[in-house]
Amino acid sequence: MKTPTLLLLASLATPLAAMAAVDFEKDIKPILENNCVRCHNPKGTEFEKGDTDLNLSTKETAFESKSTIVAGNAEKSKLYTTTVLPDDAKKLMPPRNKVTNALERLTKEETELVKTWINEGATWPDGLTLTARKKEVATAGSAAEMDLVTKIIAQINASAGPSDEKGMQAYNNTIPGSDISYDMVPIPGGKFKMGSPDNEPGHKPDESPVHDVQISPFWMEKCTVTWNEFELFMYPNEEKKARETKKLDPALNALTDAVTHPTQPYVEMSFGMGKDGYPAISMTQHAANKYCEWLSAKTGHFYRLPTEAEWEYAARAGTTTAYYWGDDASQIGDYCWYGKNSDFKYQKVGKKKPNPWGLYDMLGNVIQWTLDQYDPNFYAKSPAVDPWNKSTKPYPQVARGGSWDDDDVVKLRVANRRASDSSWKIQDPQLPKSVWYHTDAQFLGFRIVRPLKVPTPEEAYGYWNSGVEKDNPALSKAE
Ligand code: HEC
Repeated sequence: MKTPTLLLLASLATPLAAMAAVDFEKDIKPILENNCVRCHNPKGTEFEKGDTDLNLSTKETAFESKSTIVAGNAEKSKLYTTTVLPDDAKKLMPPRNKVTNALERLTKEETELVKTWINEGATWPDGLTLTARKKEVATAGSAAEMDLVTKIIAQINASAGPSDEKGMQAYNNTIPGSDISYDMVPIPGGKFKMGSPDNEPGHKPDESPVHDVQISPFWMEKCTVTWNEFELFMYPNEEKKARETKKLDPALNALTDAVTHPTQPYVEMSFGMGKDGYPAISMTQHAANKYCEWLSAKTGHFYRLPTEAEWEYAARAGTTTAYYWGDDASQIGDYCWYGKNSDFKYQKVGKKKPNPWGLYDMLGNVIQWTLDQYDPNFYAKSPAVDPWNKSTKPYPQVARGGSWDDDDVVKLRVANRRASDSSWKIQDPQLPKSVWYHTDAQFLGFRIVRPLKVPTPEEAYGYWNSGVEKDNPALSKAE
């Protein structure tokens, strides 16, 4: 694991930092090779190079112009100052990508390293020649993804959340760079009985045995993720345009832009059912996980999908009955959108009565992704504390809660489990089928959780990359 940077920056805050903390070969060379040298090299054949004579591939040429690197004075060095200009500055380095118009900013950690290196004397060992390297895309399994997750978690840890359960409050958070907000409800830690008894009407064998589970505290999103929220992630170029009107920390943008984003959908994903205030649907578990990673980078809070146990614990909200209002299925219309009152489509989120902990649409409207692999026998072997049945294959995964599409009331019971299926993307017009969309699952959405305890980078990597679709080798290559 390489995470020393933040520690290192903290130690530099003290003026007595004795030894040179930044090493050219280890810290600076990769930044220049990944981000600068492909344009700032002597060949000048690359079409994107543009009009520059600055050659950053050797010590001699890098120091040729007196204003590029002024040893001991980063604020006078263009190598540093051009990288910390505002998003819309013409001289910002690296410049906007000419093809996609995307910003390719250095992260705050990277600019701080460059600054410190210059202020410490800008030592560049003799004879070291830099060569341009392609920036690695942060896909699951890549070193770039582990590096990205490490940076996101470092950023989350830099702004402390509450240290214990007593400090957990409900909150509304605006997604930086947008006018869109979401609500989070604190869920106290505790013990509950997961599953349903054999005599519950509609009970299925995969809900047995009822077993005690201990859950650690977390926040859960009050409603399911809406199109308003999800489309910021789905259409990154529009999101970039929107945020140019807001003042945003460029370092945040660099992290969020590095998260892999969905490809453009080939069909209109709301299927005419409405967007503003309506639940986002038809995303794969992988897409939901990447939304969580993106939102974490954007907000500085750690978000992920709930485990199946967290989902049921929060849905029950202290109740032990078939539904969170009791056992009387006839009251369903007060609490749920389901097959018999939904008018054959999803409905706006948050319009029915909430459960006792203030969560809306936990049952009905859209079924919700969890993090778990579906195993009908898992309850017999479930760990007692914070269980999570980690995925080893792409299907089936667990979704919970029943939907607008379910006529049968018992499918909206709080213990009911639903297994995902490859048929959920049977109509996908793309070949190979997209890793982002379950075009046929128009009843499927998700909501996010934020555990009180921020995970390690390795744990976060596991959550955010748990749903990669590997069923068809061509699929994982397609993205
Ligand atoms: C896509 C190509 C490209 C990339 C990548 C790029 N630059 Fe540049 N850079 C240019 C061009 C073109 C100019 C000249 C533009 C101008 O002066 O307006 C320039 C100018 C500069 C200058 C000013 C030179 C001077 O003295 O006027 C500095 C310093 C610089 N770049 C540093 C960097 C650094 C540091 C990076 C990496 C973090 C970087 N550039 C990445 C294309 C690039």
